Amino acid sequence: MSYVIVLDFGAQYNQLIARRVREAEVFCEVLPGDTPASEILAKHPDAIILSGGPASVFEPGAPTMDASLLTHGIPVLGICYGMQLMTRILHGDVRPSQEREYGRTAMTQVAHSPLWEGIPSSSQVWMSHGDIVGSAPPGFEVLASTPTTPIAAMADLRRNLWAVQYHPEVHHTPQGFQLLKNFLYHIAQIAPDWRPDDMVERGIQQIRDQVGDGRALVALSGGVDSAVAAALAHRALGSRLSAVLIDHGLMRAGEVEEVVAAFPDVDLRVERAQSEFLAALQGVTDPEAKRKIIGREFIRAFERARDQIGIVDSLIQGTVYPDVIESGGKHAQTIKSHHNVGGLPEDQEFTIVEPLRWLFKDEVRRLGAALGLPDSIVWRQPFPGPGLAVRIVGEVTPEAIAMVRQADAIVRQEVREAGLERQIWQAFAVLLDIRSVGVMGDGRTYGQPVVIRAVESQDGMTADWVRLPSELLDKMASRIVGEVPGVNRVVYDITSKPPGTIEWE
Ligand code: XMP
Repeated sequence: MSYVIVLDFGAQYNQLIARRVREAEVFCEVLPGDTPASEILAKHPDAIILSGGPASVFEPGAPTMDASLLTHGIPVLGICYGMQLMTRILHGDVRPSQEREYGRTAMTQVAHSPLWEGIPSSSQVWMSHGDIVGSAPPGFEVLASTPTTPIAAMADLRRNLWAVQYHPEVHHTPQGFQLLKNFLYHIAQIAPDWRPDDMVERGIQQIRDQVGDGRALVALSGGVDSAVAAALAHRALGSRLSAVLIDHGLMRAGEVEEVVAAFPDVDLRVERAQSEFLAALQGVTDPEAKRKIIGREFIRAFERARDQIGIVDSLIQGTVYPDVIESGGKHAQTIKSHHNVGGLPEDQEFTIVEPLRWLFKDEVRRLGAALGLPDSIVWRQPFPGPGLAVRIVGEVTPEAIAMVRQADAIVRQEVREAGLERQIWQAFAVLLDIRSVGVMGDGRTYGQPVVIRAVESQDGMTADWVRLPSELLDKMASRIVGEVPGVNRVVYDITSKPPGTIEWE
């Protein structure tokens, strides 16, 4: 099978490169930038991609690579920092740019190249860098320029080395995927042979390696990620897997029953813990505190379930890549503690197995389909681990849960009936802890507002609000105010991410 290595120099979204390579149906792995050449060569990669990164090659301790990798004739593509590193190693000139270039830029090709196949001679690219290549290393030819970056792409055909200053992996570079495919298919002569079924095989292997002869427990949350992780773990472990659905009382309407019905062959038990979660959340309004409490209660509930099941060594979780990055990795800043990553208490006793950790949501869906999960699960909209608790701004009370659950059911039902469910990443309701005056019948009301949130997204990392038809919004609003006691106003959230997040907490 074809195989590409991405060397990681710390770019926040470097997994995006790996994801695009997988999209091009080529198997790909991300390794630390300073992995020794002997280790890399032993894996016989068909190509190597050097990622971007936040550092400057001039900084003391800036990430570097084993320079000998550039001498074996293996096709290498340097991206941004990767290009500057390549330049420095091969005795070209890297210099601080007059002005930091950030955002969309028009790039013009200045030489023919297989890199440009199918790409117009002038195209838009996404730049984000402080340094530039002032002169290319000996043997290199300049392939493209932008107004502020004279060497925006370059290549040394003899040594099979290629580099671009811009980011082909992001959506803001419309021809970026084409460039990556050109590098993989035409330059590295790689055949696309990686399929979703291969993801199944690798996932199964990874779970078997980590769990060994032991038993595992999988945490079903109701969302697509944990469902796919559970289905994969069931394939890998069969009867050595038990599944637990913690009913924390913060699920969507009908969800517990639907999940139970979707896993008829799995040893699945529902751990009812509504009262424990409610008691722990009483009086708590701070979003991060809520997330930490829920993370802690989850583990406690699992421990109770495990005690009934017998000895369990591993806990399988459906953490996906955007959860990892948003919870703050080595380089990324923490935006929110996702309960299944950062919110875990230190004293938990399981080995955590996260077979989906490097996948994006659409890849998880593809994997789910390859595993034969029904559409109702595969196309289920994402749902946060902390459930409705993070959709209640303010204290989580039984009344607030009932209100937001009913409003959410209305929003989802109307979106489904309008045939928009698959086009929308998430559509849901949020309950706010404020009061406003309204009038109903002949009487004054003093009730709470519900926010409708509907967003489009590729992977949850960025999102745009959906321009829902006004008739649909109108129907949702009248139904919510008419059917949900205590709600007298509905507003529509028209914030994209960034600067907003998708959830309100
Ligand atoms: P935000 O609100 O961070 O959400 O823009 C991005 C995506 O992640 C989901 N989300 C979570 N998923 N555990 C999860 O498994 C969590 O704690 C969590 N918080 C947010 C959210 O629904 C959206 O799809």
